[in-house]
This record gives sequence, C-alpha cells and structure tokens, in this order.
Amino acid sequence: MKHLLGIESLTADEISALVNHAVQLKAERKRGLIGSDLQGEIWALIFAKSSTRTRVSFETGLVELGAQPMFLSASDIQLGRGEPIRDTARVLGRMVHGAIIRTFAQQDVVDFAEFGKIPTVNALTDEEHPCQILADLLTIRELLGGWEGRKVAFFGDGDCNMGRSWAWAAKRLGFELVIAAPAPYQPDAAFRARLGESPVTITDDAEAAARDADVLYTDTWVSMGREAEAEERLRILAPFQIHQGLVDLAHPDAIVQHCLPAYRDKEISGTLFEEHAAEIFQQAENRLHAQKAVLIALARGREEN
Ligand code: CP
Ligand code: NVA
Repeated sequence: MKHLLGIESLTADEISALVNHAVQLKAERKRGLIGSDLQGEIWALIFAKSSTRTRVSFETGLVELGAQPMFLSASDIQLGRGEPIRDTARVLGRMVHGAIIRTFAQQDVVDFAEFGKIPTVNALTDEEHPCQILADLLTIRELLGGWEGRKVAFFGDGDCNMGRSWAWAAKRLGFELVIAAPAPYQPDAAFRARLGESPVTITDDAEAAARDADVLYTDTWVSMGREAEAEERLRILAPFQIHQGLVDLAHPDAIVQHCLPAYRDKEISGTLFEEHAAEIFQQAENRLHAQKAVLIALARGREEN
C-alpha cells in the first residue's frame, strides 16, 4: 500500500489484511511487545481541524513503532496563509518520511500524495474518514466475530465523511449497510452514481433501518466546518437519534457504535451512550491498533518501490 487516501481506494483484501494485522498488533501490545518498523523516521501530522483520538492515536502509534511525530497545525504553517498544498508537499517530501493529514478537501490529500511522494494518510476529510472505519471493522471483528452477513445501520448525517466511508466499506466487503437519514442529509446523487451497485440502502425510515441490525452507528450531526448550519441540522436530524426504541428493534446482541466526539441527547440518547460506553471506548482504543497496521503497511509499501 502506498497511501491511505480513502476506503474507496482499498480492495477487500487490503482492508482484511489491515484488520487482521491490527488484531495481532493489539495482542502483542498487551504482551508488552512493540515494533520498530518505523525506526528513526519522522512523520508529519498536518491538521486543519480539531482532533483528540486521531492525533493521540497516531502520535502514540508512531512513537511505539520507533518514529517521531511532528504535529503541524495548518494555521501555524504557511499553508494557513495560502501556500499551496502541492508546495507544502514538495518541501515536506524532502524532509520527512510520511504525512498524516486532516483537512477539508479530499483533493488536498490526493495532491499531497502526488507531489510529496511520501506515504500519505487521510486522517479525515469532508469526503472520507478511512482510519475510523478500519478501527470500527476491528471492533466489529472483536465483538461480533466479523462483518460477514452482518447488517450495519448508520443513523443521522448520511452525507458526511463517515456515511460515505461506511458506504465504501459495505461495497468493498459486501455486508449490508442501511443509511437512515432525512432527504437533505442522504448521500447525494453524484456520490450514489460513483458508488454504483452496492449492498447499501438509503432510507428516511429509522425504524426499518434498526430492525434486526447488528450494529447501530452514529456520528455528530454537525461535522467540522458545518457549524453555521447547526441549528437547522439539529432540527431536521432530531428523528434520527439512536435511542432505546431503536435498540429494541435491533438484533438482541446488537452493538452501539459512535466514532466520537459524542453529543448526548442529540445523535444519541445520553443514557444509551453510557450503557454502551464499553463498546464505544473499545472502538476508540482500536484507532491506535488499526493505524499502527496502516503505518506498517505504508512503510512496507515504500520499501517495495
Ligand atoms: N473520531 C475521531 O476522528 O475523533 P477525533 O476528531 O477526536 O480525532
Ligand atoms: N463527521 C465528523 C467526524 C468527526 C470524527 C466530522 O467530520 O466532524
């Protein structure tokens, strides 16, 4: 693997291999074993949006693998004053060994990969959040034994990065995904055309989506960059909150997942969140293990060139 730009650009085999490796890395870490696959390297984290989990898990993972993270807030470097991403990439590509980028436009991550010529990771754009999906798949593997034959129901803003990355995961891996969202927040026509034939259903019927689901998943209704629309979003998305009524319709062993940060009594009922906190924070921890598998795959991909 040369870059991780999105779930869209991964094959089923690549996804499975990353999740399998993450299972192994997690078990090894519990036994006190940490690797040295990135020994002596420096990886830049360029973040134009806030982050807790992604930043901490990547910085921790890099150090555990022998590398040094260099955190660069986009607003502190010349990128924030208008220097083109392709110029930033051509500078960093001569100095550091890899880049982890959180930003708005997917094209910026694509351009960085092309011009920087170093392994580049999408740490969230408006279009995709592939690192989160890999951790989620790891959690589903741990708690449900795998995603084969499972039904994942995503509630809320179906047109955000998480809804889109889930759609690509379902297409690549073949499990059933139902996105329950009101019409204005369903994946748009251009995205559906690009997705093509897939096991993804889009509906405005939250109860139908929840029925017999194995995973009930949600994300904030106000993604980063959408704050000006907050009031309207909270009003229109209110009927898509995950609450006990939806859990009652799901499979008796269904798990509740949230990529976090969570806004209680908005996208998820506060009581339900606490009842399912163990599986939600297991999901958060899995960011570390899944991303270490990504970093190692990228280091190996570079050696193959
Ligand atoms: N889920 C996630 O990406 O969290 P952060 O925004 O805190 O990185
Ligand atoms: N959809 C959310 C995900 C946060 C991890 C956002 O983009 O803000």
